[in-house]
Amino acid sequence: MNKVKRTWNINGERREAEIPPVRRFLDVLREDLDLKGTKEGCGEGECGACTVIVDGEPVLSCMLPAGQVPDSAEVTTVEGLEKTPGGRLLQAAYAEKGAAQCGFCIPGMIVSSYAMLSRDPDMDPGRIREAHAGNICRCTGYEKIVEAIQSAAEQWPAEAKG
Ligand code: FES
Ligand code: FES
Repeated sequence: MNKVKRTWNINGERREAEIPPVRRFLDVLREDLDLKGTKEGCGEGECGACTVIVDGEPVLSCMLPAGQVPDSAEVTTVEGLEKTPGGRLLQAAYAEKGAAQCGFCIPGMIVSSYAMLSRDPDMDPGRIREAHAGNICRCTGYEKIVEAIQSAAEQWPAEAKG
């Protein structure tokens, strides 16, 4: 199969890949670029475990052919969150509220949280639930997850700027 070359800015680093255009972006991230923080749950676009951010939008990497991720795209995976004030704030809030049980959903969940708060940190529990409707937690720890995101949202303007 023909391959395409792509150069992406992933978590602030220039990364190159030569890939069959239909290869799943999830597999390129995990297997080709060794970014294993992004998880595969269902592989069918139902659970949100594979969520990453491409040019500011949360996307399901299991459903995204890598060839459709444009050259020079800005990509954030869960590994990149610790490099940002907002990401660190969210990680601390998830930990402080005990939001992770088995933890499998958390990479996708927290990446969705980061995308949402980066766009609009003015959140209430209803909007948080709505924005995370595509992220399924098998341990059903939603209450603490929402508490964590709300806590991060409340601190977002002071601590997550820049
Ligand atoms: S693994 Fe992509 S949505 Fe479930
Ligand atoms: S903490 Fe186990 S799936 Fe969410």
